[in-house]
Amino acid sequence: MSSPIESVLQEQRLFYPSLEFSAQAKIGSLEQYHQLYRQAEADPVKFWSDLATQELDWFDRWHTTLDWQPPLVKWFDGGKLNISYNCLDRHLLTWRRNKAALIWEGEPGDSRTYTYAQLHREVCLFANVLKQLGVQKGDVVGIYLPMIPEAAIAMLACARIGAPHSVVFGGFSAEALRDRLNDGKAKLVITADGGWRKDAIVPLKDQVDIALTHVPTVENVLVVQRTGQKIQMLPGRDHWWHDLKQGVNADCPAEPMASEDILFILYTSGSTGKPKGVVHTTAGYNLYTHITTQWIFDLKDTDVYWCTADVGWITGHSYIVYGPLSNGATTLMYEGAPRPSNPGCTWEIIEKHGVNIFYTAPTAIRSFIKQGEHLPKARDLSSLRLLGTVGEPINPEAWMWYYRIIGQERCPIVDTWWQTETGGIMISALPGAMATKPGSATLPFPGIIADVVDLEGNPVGVNEGGYLVIKHPFPSMMRTIYNDPDRFRSSYWEHIPPKEGQYFYFAGDGARKDEDGYFWVMGRVDDVINVAGHRLGTMEIESALVSHPAVAEAAVVGKPDEIKGEEICAFIILEGSQTANEELAQELKQHVVKEIGAIARPGEIKFTDALPKTRSGKIMRRLLRSLAAQQEITSDTSTLEDRSVLDKLREGA
Ligand code: WT7
Repeated sequence: MSSPIESVLQEQRLFYPSLEFSAQAKIGSLEQYHQLYRQAEADPVKFWSDLATQELDWFDRWHTTLDWQPPLVKWFDGGKLNISYNCLDRHLLTWRRNKAALIWEGEPGDSRTYTYAQLHREVCLFANVLKQLGVQKGDVVGIYLPMIPEAAIAMLACARIGAPHSVVFGGFSAEALRDRLNDGKAKLVITADGGWRKDAIVPLKDQVDIALTHVPTVENVLVVQRTGQKIQMLPGRDHWWHDLKQGVNADCPAEPMASEDILFILYTSGSTGKPKGVVHTTAGYNLYTHITTQWIFDLKDTDVYWCTADVGWITGHSYIVYGPLSNGATTLMYEGAPRPSNPGCTWEIIEKHGVNIFYTAPTAIRSFIKQGEHLPKARDLSSLRLLGTVGEPINPEAWMWYYRIIGQERCPIVDTWWQTETGGIMISALPGAMATKPGSATLPFPGIIADVVDLEGNPVGVNEGGYLVIKHPFPSMMRTIYNDPDRFRSSYWEHIPPKEGQYFYFAGDGARKDEDGYFWVMGRVDDVINVAGHRLGTMEIESALVSHPAVAEAAVVGKPDEIKGEEICAFIILEGSQTANEELAQELKQHVVKEIGAIARPGEIKFTDALPKTRSGKIMRRLLRSLAAQQEITSDTSTLEDRSVLDKLREGA
């Protein structure tokens, strides 16, 4: 048996939605869910084709709903549409024209609201500025912005003219930005002077200046003024958005895009190698994020919906920008993060705007718990009707706190399992239809054939751990890795080899299914570290460490952490002449921050003389993980080259 993870969690609690909630819900009963699920399973082509007809506006209808040449897929081939049109223009023809599309809160307390008509106008102006700067259909545009409305506007403007965007999280360093811009051969970068985060300014433009010394393809930089701090503007290359927008007109029809034209590239870490540029295309992504937003968040026209993710991650793409706006919803965006000067800002914003649906991450929930329940209790949270979580498995105690203190035992919780690669939510409760269990993402979305299998692709037994796989193509699945189709195949489609025509998309997670068919995701089976809901590749962090002159070799692993889920623990072998001390440990931590960003800062540095390796020279990180967590090593050590290394490491710990 090749089970990747053993199941240890025993959770029996069951929470039903209230009758009131179910009565008003889009999908209001388990029966209705099963019916939809069966329909989709029996005839996926009809299921998705019907939804695409009903839910999206098209310039040209497609001729082939699904073209599946594993692992290559095309959805709605022959069709023409534009996601910016579906998110904006079509609502202008309805009463939603003057409805709030985007409510934004800045960290220092400033606030802006855009109606659909206003947002449409800004996007058109932005798109015309991009065109004026020479951006054409197919050109990749880098976006490195704080959480300000212009981030959404820039994405929609790129989509409008058919320029794939590559959003780089504003917390990433100049080096990380440079690599991503080079991989995409970006032609233009959109940034800001700076952004607010945790009471401080993040100097984005300065980082761009450093990055661009080594990115030959970028011709222009479009700069949004946010903080007003002093920055360098390189004549001819750098342009202020507020200057250029004065000179363009507000008429910019949405470009008809083919269904399979690239909408965006978004980089995510793998366990080895450089970050993967996950490619998403237009129609399938639009449809899937649209319908999952509608059914999973039970989104109504009267709701104020708030997802706390950053637009630099897939959650921000799919569930702040595209999914909600395609539905004509009111989406709320917040610039900062809970911060020393106002730790209760989250609850203040919910009260101020009467937020109805709140979607956040387990890592945030754990820090809310630590801050104390007096903060949410000081605010009126009675507007909330539904809560969501995403990013990593949520521990049942955090789930219960979220349910009791934030949801006041009134709001269902949707625990949504998905990935950058899947584009949209794969496994989650439909909140009016099914009971939830703390720690389980519950059941797959209609049309998603998910299973837990062994290495040969055979389903494992009830409550047995195995590999989480998807067995049928779905509209928002990643199409490839940018510039690396071979890696796309080997990373996702060969781990569990196809058999009898059945292909298995392997997500990289271990899971089990319980007696009710509920999925319990147990985490990554590879070496990727999940810090605060973000997967970080060991390789990138190790490379950063090794780039420091004092370091000969580095291995990093995740170590359980109460707040962040995992914390990075780095094992370091120093160059011969160097001596280990606390000062150097601090310096190395800072070095990683510079190379990658604060998110990758190791919590702990352990100096050592040797690392446990296999005979072929591969570092055995699972052994290091046990050491870091101060656990007994019970897993297999037979492939270890030198067993005495473990004893030495233990002594040093
Ligand atoms: C990985 C994907 C999807 C947006 C945020 C992260 C883990 C995500 C859950 C959940 C258990 C989860 C998985 C997955 N994950 N959501 N509800 N329960 N695990 O996107 O950076 O692409 O990471 O996050 O391990 O594979 P990402």
